[in-house]
Formats: sequence, structure tokens, C-alpha cells
Amino acid sequence: MAKLSILDLKEEDLANKRVLVRVDFNVPIKNGVITDDKRIREALPTIQYLIEKKAKVILMSHLGRPKGIQEDLRLDPIAKRLSELLGKKVKKLNDCIGEEVEREVENMKPGEIILLENLRFHKEEEANDPEFAKKLARLGDIYVSDAFGTVHRAHASTAGVAQYLPSYAGLLIKKEIEIMGSALEKPERPFICILGGAKVSDKIGVIENLLEKVDTLIIGGGMMFTFWKAQGFEIGKSILEEDKIEIAKKFIKTAEEKGVKLLLPDDAVVVKEISETAETKIKGKGEFEIDDIGVDIGPKSIEKFVKEIAQGKTIIWNGPMGIFEIDKFSEGTKEIAKAIANNKNCVSIVGGGDTASAISKLGLEDKFTHISTGGGASLEFLEGKILPGIAVLLEKK
Ligand code: 3PG
Repeated sequence: MAKLSILDLKEEDLANKRVLVRVDFNVPIKNGVITDDKRIREALPTIQYLIEKKAKVILMSHLGRPKGIQEDLRLDPIAKRLSELLGKKVKKLNDCIGEEVEREVENMKPGEIILLENLRFHKEEEANDPEFAKKLARLGDIYVSDAFGTVHRAHASTAGVAQYLPSYAGLLIKKEIEIMGSALEKPERPFICILGGAKVSDKIGVIENLLEKVDTLIIGGGMMFTFWKAQGFEIGKSILEEDKIEIAKKFIKTAEEKGVKLLLPDDAVVVKEISETAETKIKGKGEFEIDDIGVDIGPKSIEKFVKEIAQGKTIIWNGPMGIFEIDKFSEGTKEIAKAIANNKNCVSIVGGGDTASAISKLGLEDKFTHISTGGGASLEFLEGKILPGIAVLLEKK
């Protein structure tokens, strides 16, 4: 990716300044309870730093994809959790713009924290409406973006607002970009990328970019079947993207031309129906019957991938190897996670989303160098794109 020079927050005199911070507190919540607070914990260093510097900290985030105001998507449980983590009061407001909000911000003392209401209660947020962005900008003297998970969105709070305030990257964005950026630009070799997930279409950009960079590309997950089909094998009723067969063929050819080792599974776990109680069988490539459905990579594939992973010095992983939400079909994902965790000599990076949840379910989080807080954002970053929420933070020369 292009060179990024991000302004250094530390150079700014922050005392008494109103600092408007975009965070990504889009966390999973069930019945009012946060089930994974990683994104909140990862935002703490920037918030703590601003408090230490006696700034007035105004936090803003979206949660979910509401259409208008939705009671279960208010940010109150997040304010509560953040307050527990900081050991400090976090005042939650009922809106993110308007006179009342401006008054509350006006009355803030240095070191205090306000959390604004869900930005997406206003449709102008996602429309990147300039008037809405200006209203947000009125709340701060400077803007800090630390919402790595949302930098692929050109919304008012992630992009628009930066037009009206001096804009800085927070410590989380810096960390994410530094770790993933240096893995992409100067990886220690062998450089291995493992891609899974259901669809080839989600990963086309990533595969294109990574075929230029990696030594080995491992493919698992539902998208393996489009590759098998491209190689001419029967895949039964497994997930297939018919219109991506040609591109899969192209990737196989490009890998050959570039000397990239492309590892596809040799076997899979198959069922006749996707359910917790389904009877499973292991079948090799080419052994599928027309009503077989592949749901995970098989033991031979696991063995082959694990051997390769043990050699890696830089490993990037994005996407589960099978339908890991069903325990019976999660073996491949588990074994890949363990193999990376067992390789003590590598830099290991995990794209967020499903893969991050799988690792946290296994309790292996500490064993990875970096688990990104971005799902879609980390994927687009790996595609080598300059993301809108990062572009606005580039040093203006
Ligand atoms: C995410 O969870 O990937 C980010 O918070 C962005 O959310 P969105 O996909 O609803 O824009």
C-alpha cells in the first residue's frame, strides 16, 4: 500500500481542548449485555492518554445498522462498560448533535468523558452529509479517529468531519496500520496467507493483492469449493459461486506463474444436510456424490496446512475453514488456530470478524501477535486500498 504518514497525536497540546474522538464501539450485545468488549478495550490507550493530557474527551460511535432511533441500539451499556474499564465516570448523552449536546460539552471539565448517542440514529451519518459533519465538528477543537473497524466507511464521523477540524489518528489506528502495513510491505519470509470464509467474491481483492506478495496462499472455507470446481472436481451441493469459477482458474494460473505455492484442501467433512445432528463423513477431492455438502476441511488437509504453517515467519489469517459456528464442523478452524499459536517464530496477524471470534472462543487470543479490531476494514486494508477513514488522516503537505 502507499506510504502513510500519520500526524502524531503526541505533538499536540491537548490540555483543556475538546477532543472529538471517533471510536468503533460496534460490539455484540445480547439482551443488553456486551458479549465481546475487545473493541472497547482496544480504544482505552487513546482515551487514557487524552485524559492524562487533561483533554475533554467526547467519544462517538455507531452501533449496528439502525433505521432511525432503535432503543436496543442505544449506547448506554457501552458507556457503563467503558466506565468500568476506565474506573471513571462516562456521561452518556441521548443524542450526538444539537443544542443540548453542545451545552453538555460546553460544561465539561478537563479530563472528563462524554459518550454521544449512536451516530446512525441520524441517516445523515452514513450519507456523509456535510451539514451533519459540521454539527459534529462544532463539538470539538480537534478530531481524533481511532475507529479502525470503520475506516472503510466514508461516513460523516469517519471522513466528513475531518474537513472541518485538525485531524489525527489515534493509537489503535496507528497500531493496526503499523502491524498490518509492515507485514504487507516487508514481511519476514516465508510469508503465508490463509484465507477462508464462504465466498470467493468477498476475497477477490485480497487474493489479487496477496498473490503479489506471499510465498504461500492457503485456501479453505466454503470458497474452496469454487476452486475445486475450477479444477474440474464434483462438489455436490457444496457452496459454489458459479460466476467466480473463471476467476478461481485465473488465480490458480497466476499463482503458478508467480511461483506462489497455492495450497487447496485435499479432503473435506461432508454431510447430507447442515445441522448439528447431521452424520459426517470424510471425502477426498473428487469423491463427492451429487448430494454431498462440504462443511469443513478434512484431516489430510489439516495435516498439510499445519505442516506449512509451522514454517511461516509471517502469517496472515482471514476467514474460518468451515461452518465453525456448529461445533462438529469447527475442527479445521480450531486446528489452524492452534497451528498458528504453536508457531512461536512468526508474526501472526488475524483479520477481525469471524476469525477473531473463533480464536477468542478457543481462548488463544494471547498467542497471536495481532488480532485486528476490523472485520471488513482489515479485509479492505489487505486488498491494499487506501481507506477513506485513513485518507483523511494523511499528513497534508
Ligand atoms: C464492523 O463491525 O465491521 C464495523 O463496525 C463497521 O460496521 P458496518 O459494516 O455496519 O459499517
